[in-house]
Amino acid sequence: MTVLTVASSKGGPGKTTLCQVLAGSLAGQCKLVVLDADPTQALSRWATSTYEGPTFETFAEPDETQLAHLIGTKAETADLVLVDTAGFGNRAATVAMTSADAVLVPTLAGEADITEAEKTVRLVDGLAKAARRDIPARVMFNRVRRTSLAKHAEAEADRAKLPRLLSSLSDLVAYGEMSYSGRLPTSGPAAAEVSALIEELIKLGWIPTSTRNDV
Ligand SMILES: Nc1ncnc2c1ncn2[C@@H]1O[C@H](COP(=O)(O)OP(=O)(O)OP(=O)(O)O)[C@@H](O)[C@H]1O
Ligand SMILES: [Mg+2]
Repeated sequence: MTVLTVASSKGGPGKTTLCQVLAGSLAGQCKLVVLDADPTQALSRWATSTYEGPTFETFAEPDETQLAHLIGTKAETADLVLVDTAGFGNRAATVAMTSADAVLVPTLAGEADITEAEKTVRLVDGLAKAARRDIPARVMFNRVRRTSLAKHAEAEADRAKLPRLLSSLSDLVAYGEMSYSGRLPTSGPAAAEVSALIEELIKLGWIPTSTRNDV
């Protein structure tokens, strides 16, 4: 089992979108539980009312006093527990990061965005120290436009020694549409970069490899 938390101190860099992509790609492949720790419940609403695809278990739990228990219980039987969080120093987000085996930090390419992503990675480092165990975190660039800004952003992240994924998600309407259609992109550049992302996360051991027939 793995607990993978998606977090960022800044609002809006694509946490929920990333969770949608991961959940839709992994449902039916492994025993997946998706927890929505954000009080807005955007992810759990999407999962229960909009999403069209193989089913997965999902719960909304914004209460930090309940969340660690729920993550612990679900992690006992699931192959992957995926947790979406709220930004802005939300307490449930801190619980979700502390409970995680790994943390993904989506970020946009702006200077302020990268500074916030760095803060989130440093916070995870601190939480890991407090818990006396390793909690790896990686930044993932989202809404990338293939311009010089993207190159600057990558250079800035590398200068700050931010651990980052090689994969990124481009700024594509396909991702925005997914939140309304409930369907993941199945062709074109979005589908290709989602596959690359999944492959990279499998290689890191952050998501399960095996395809199961009994889920
Ligand atoms: N790669 C992308 N291409 C195009 N649109 C995107 C992409 N990623 C996210 N978006 C859009 O950006 C907006 C914000 O994304 P999202 O809700 O996933 O961010 P968030 O980090 O979960 O925000 P919050 O902090 O409010 O929970 C949404 O309208 C979403 O559809
Ligand atoms: Mg969100």
